[in-house]
Amino acid sequence: MNNLAVFASGSGSNFQAIVDAIKQGQLDAKVVLLVCDKPNAFVLQRAEKEGIPYFLFNPKDYPNKTAYETIILANLQKLSIDYIVLAGYMRLIGETILSKYEEKIVNIHPSLLPAFPGKDAIGQALQAGVKVTGVTIHYVDEGMDTGTIIDQHAVSISPDDTKESLQKKVQEIEHQLYPSVLKRLLKKIVNT
Ligand code: GAR
Repeated sequence: MNNLAVFASGSGSNFQAIVDAIKQGQLDAKVVLLVCDKPNAFVLQRAEKEGIPYFLFNPKDYPNKTAYETIILANLQKLSIDYIVLAGYMRLIGETILSKYEEKIVNIHPSLLPAFPGKDAIGQALQAGVKVTGVTIHYVDEGMDTGTIIDQHAVSISPDDTKESLQKKVQEIEHQLYPSVLKRLLKKIVNT
Protein backbone atom coordinates (compact mmCIF):
# COMPACT_ATOMS: atom_id res chain seq x y z
CA MET A 1 0.00 0.00 0.00
CA ASN A 2 1.24 3.52 -0.80
CA ASN A 3 1.56 6.25 1.79
CA LEU A 4 0.32 9.62 0.57
CA ALA A 5 0.96 13.12 1.86
CA VAL A 6 -1.60 15.66 0.69
CA PHE A 7 -0.51 19.31 0.53
CA ALA A 8 -3.37 21.83 0.66
CA SER A 9 -3.98 25.50 1.44
CA GLY A 10 -7.76 25.84 1.29
CA SER A 11 -11.11 24.15 1.70
CA GLY A 12 -9.78 20.67 1.04
CA SER A 13 -12.66 19.27 -0.99
CA ASN A 14 -10.13 17.31 -3.07
CA PHE A 15 -8.41 16.09 0.10
CA GLN A 16 -11.83 14.85 1.23
CA ALA A 17 -12.54 13.17 -2.13
CA ILE A 18 -9.27 11.24 -1.88
CA VAL A 19 -9.88 10.24 1.75
CA ASP A 20 -13.43 9.13 0.88
CA ALA A 21 -12.23 7.10 -2.13
CA ILE A 22 -9.79 5.27 0.17
CA LYS A 23 -12.51 4.65 2.76
CA GLN A 24 -14.77 3.25 0.04
CA GLY A 25 -12.04 0.88 -1.09
CA GLN A 26 -11.57 2.56 -4.47
CA LEU A 27 -7.95 3.45 -3.79
CA ASP A 28 -5.35 1.22 -2.15
CA ALA A 29 -3.48 3.93 -0.27
CA LYS A 30 -3.35 5.75 3.03
CA VAL A 31 -3.29 9.50 3.63
CA VAL A 32 -0.64 9.60 6.32
CA LEU A 33 -0.07 13.34 6.50
CA LEU A 34 -1.61 16.66 5.52
CA VAL A 35 0.81 19.53 4.94
CA CYS A 36 -0.81 22.96 5.17
CA ASP A 37 0.53 26.52 5.05
CA LYS A 38 -2.63 28.35 6.18
CA PRO A 39 -3.80 28.28 9.82
CA ASN A 40 -7.43 29.07 8.89
CA ALA A 41 -7.73 26.55 6.08
CA PHE A 42 -10.87 24.40 6.38
CA VAL A 43 -8.83 21.39 5.26
CA LEU A 44 -7.34 21.30 8.79
CA GLN A 45 -10.80 20.67 10.26
CA ARG A 46 -11.35 17.91 7.72
CA ALA A 47 -8.05 16.27 8.73
CA GLU A 48 -8.94 16.47 12.41
CA LYS A 49 -12.32 14.88 11.77
CA GLU A 50 -10.67 12.07 9.80
CA GLY A 51 -7.93 11.58 12.42
CA ILE A 52 -5.21 12.39 9.91
CA PRO A 53 -2.17 14.16 11.38
CA TYR A 54 -1.14 17.46 9.86
CA PHE A 55 1.95 19.59 9.66
CA LEU A 56 0.92 23.25 9.73
CA PHE A 57 3.58 25.84 9.03
CA ASN A 58 3.80 29.54 8.33
CA PRO A 59 6.37 30.26 5.59
CA LYS A 60 6.98 33.67 7.19
CA ASP A 61 8.51 31.92 10.22
CA TYR A 62 11.37 30.64 8.06
CA PRO A 63 14.21 32.50 6.29
CA ASN A 64 13.46 30.82 2.94
CA LYS A 65 11.75 27.93 1.11
CA THR A 66 14.72 25.60 1.66
CA ALA A 67 14.39 26.06 5.42
CA TYR A 68 10.73 25.03 5.66
CA GLU A 69 10.97 22.38 2.96
CA THR A 70 13.85 20.74 4.85
CA ILE A 71 11.51 20.27 7.82
CA ILE A 72 8.64 19.07 5.63
CA LEU A 73 10.99 16.61 3.92
CA ALA A 74 12.11 15.21 7.27
CA ASN A 75 8.44 14.59 8.13
CA LEU A 76 7.78 12.93 4.76
CA GLN A 77 10.77 10.63 5.14
CA LYS A 78 9.96 9.78 8.76
CA LEU A 79 6.48 8.67 7.62
CA SER A 80 7.79 6.80 4.54
CA ILE A 81 5.68 8.89 2.17
CA ASP A 82 5.63 7.43 -1.35
CA TYR A 83 3.64 10.10 -3.21
CA ILE A 84 2.93 13.80 -2.64
CA VAL A 85 -0.52 14.89 -3.81
CA LEU A 86 -1.01 18.64 -4.24
CA ALA A 87 -4.66 19.55 -3.74
CA GLY A 88 -5.03 23.32 -3.84
CA TYR A 89 -1.56 23.93 -2.38
CA MET A 90 -0.87 27.45 -3.59
CA ARG A 91 2.96 27.38 -3.47
CA LEU A 92 5.67 26.17 -5.78
CA ILE A 93 7.54 23.07 -4.65
CA GLY A 94 11.27 23.76 -4.36
CA GLU A 95 14.35 21.77 -5.19
CA THR A 96 14.67 20.35 -1.64
CA ILE A 97 11.50 18.25 -2.03
CA LEU A 98 11.52 17.90 -5.84
CA SER A 99 14.95 16.27 -5.89
CA LYS A 100 13.83 13.55 -3.45
CA TYR A 101 10.39 12.91 -4.99
CA GLU A 102 11.06 12.94 -8.72
CA GLU A 103 7.94 11.80 -10.64
CA LYS A 104 6.27 11.23 -7.28
CA ILE A 105 4.50 14.59 -6.94
CA VAL A 106 1.21 15.31 -8.69
CA ASN A 107 -1.00 18.38 -8.88
CA ILE A 108 -4.58 19.13 -9.89
CA HIS A 109 -5.41 22.37 -11.66
CA PRO A 110 -8.85 23.74 -12.66
CA SER A 111 -8.18 24.38 -16.36
CA LEU A 112 -7.02 22.57 -19.48
CA LEU A 113 -3.32 23.37 -19.06
CA PRO A 114 -1.32 24.97 -20.54
CA ALA A 115 -4.28 27.40 -20.65
CA PHE A 116 -4.90 29.51 -17.54
CA PRO A 117 -2.11 28.50 -15.14
CA GLY A 118 -1.70 30.11 -11.72
CA LYS A 119 -4.34 31.61 -9.50
CA ASP A 120 -8.05 31.92 -10.31
CA ALA A 121 -7.99 29.66 -13.36
CA ILE A 122 -11.80 29.61 -13.39
CA GLY A 123 -12.05 33.40 -13.38
CA GLN A 124 -9.40 33.54 -16.10
CA ALA A 125 -11.43 31.16 -18.30
CA LEU A 126 -14.63 33.20 -17.85
CA GLN A 127 -12.75 36.42 -18.56
CA ALA A 128 -11.26 34.95 -21.74
CA GLY A 129 -14.74 33.96 -22.99
CA VAL A 130 -13.77 30.38 -23.84
CA LYS A 131 -16.55 27.82 -24.27
CA VAL A 132 -14.60 24.92 -22.79
CA THR A 133 -12.32 24.66 -19.79
CA GLY A 134 -11.60 21.69 -17.56
CA VAL A 135 -9.34 19.89 -15.13
CA THR A 136 -5.72 18.81 -15.52
CA ILE A 137 -3.68 16.41 -13.39
CA HIS A 138 0.05 16.60 -13.99
CA TYR A 139 3.42 15.73 -12.54
CA VAL A 140 5.02 18.60 -10.68
CA ASP A 141 8.23 20.30 -11.71
CA GLU A 142 9.76 23.63 -10.66
CA GLY A 143 7.29 25.69 -12.74
CA MET A 144 3.83 27.06 -12.02
CA ASP A 145 1.30 24.41 -13.13
CA THR A 146 3.79 23.00 -15.62
CA GLY A 147 5.07 19.42 -15.72
CA THR A 148 4.02 16.43 -17.80
CA ILE A 149 0.26 16.08 -18.14
CA ILE A 150 -1.19 12.80 -16.86
CA ASP A 151 -4.88 13.31 -17.60
CA GLN A 152 -7.40 16.01 -18.51
CA HIS A 153 -11.16 16.32 -18.56
CA ALA A 154 -13.11 19.03 -20.37
CA VAL A 155 -15.97 21.05 -18.84
CA SER A 156 -18.24 23.17 -21.05
CA ILE A 157 -19.00 26.74 -20.09
CA SER A 158 -22.59 27.94 -20.63
CA PRO A 159 -23.37 31.57 -21.40
CA ASP A 160 -25.09 31.93 -18.01
CA ASP A 161 -22.28 30.36 -15.97
CA THR A 162 -20.99 32.42 -13.04
CA LYS A 163 -17.72 31.82 -11.25
CA GLU A 164 -19.63 29.89 -8.58
CA SER A 165 -21.56 27.68 -11.00
CA LEU A 166 -18.48 26.95 -13.10
CA GLN A 167 -16.40 26.18 -10.02
CA LYS A 168 -19.08 23.72 -8.92
CA LYS A 169 -19.00 21.92 -12.30
CA VAL A 170 -15.18 21.86 -12.33
CA GLN A 171 -14.92 20.58 -8.76
CA GLU A 172 -17.43 17.79 -9.40
CA ILE A 173 -15.06 16.56 -12.12
CA GLU A 174 -12.00 17.06 -9.89
CA HIS A 175 -13.48 14.90 -7.14
CA GLN A 176 -13.97 12.02 -9.59
CA LEU A 177 -10.82 12.47 -11.63
CA TYR A 178 -8.23 12.81 -8.85
CA PRO A 179 -9.00 9.50 -7.10
CA SER A 180 -9.26 7.68 -10.43
CA VAL A 181 -5.92 9.04 -11.72
CA LEU A 182 -4.24 8.26 -8.39
CA LYS A 183 -5.57 4.73 -8.61
CA ARG A 184 -3.98 4.28 -12.05
CA LEU A 185 -0.78 6.00 -10.93
CA LEU A 186 -0.35 3.77 -7.91
CA LYS A 187 -0.96 0.72 -10.07
CA LYS A 188 1.64 2.14 -12.48
CA ILE A 189 -0.78 2.11 -15.42
CA VAL A 190 -0.54 5.78 -16.28
CA ASN A 191 0.56 6.68 -19.80
CA THR A 192 2.01 10.14 -20.28
C1 GAR B 1 -8.98 23.09 -6.74
O1 GAR B 1 -9.97 23.51 -7.65
C2 GAR B 1 -7.65 22.91 -7.43
O2 GAR B 1 -7.78 22.49 -8.75
C3 GAR B 1 -7.08 24.31 -7.34
O3 GAR B 1 -7.42 24.74 -6.07
C4 GAR B 1 -8.70 24.20 -5.72
C5 GAR B 1 -8.63 23.66 -4.31
O4 GAR B 1 -9.90 23.28 -3.88
N1 GAR B 1 -5.66 24.32 -7.55
C6 GAR B 1 -5.01 25.27 -8.21
O5 GAR B 1 -5.53 26.28 -8.64
C7 GAR B 1 -3.50 25.01 -8.38
N2 GAR B 1 -2.91 25.99 -9.19
P1 GAR B 1 -10.08 22.37 -2.59
O6 GAR B 1 -9.28 23.04 -1.46
O7 GAR B 1 -11.55 22.40 -2.31
O8 GAR B 1 -9.58 21.00 -2.91
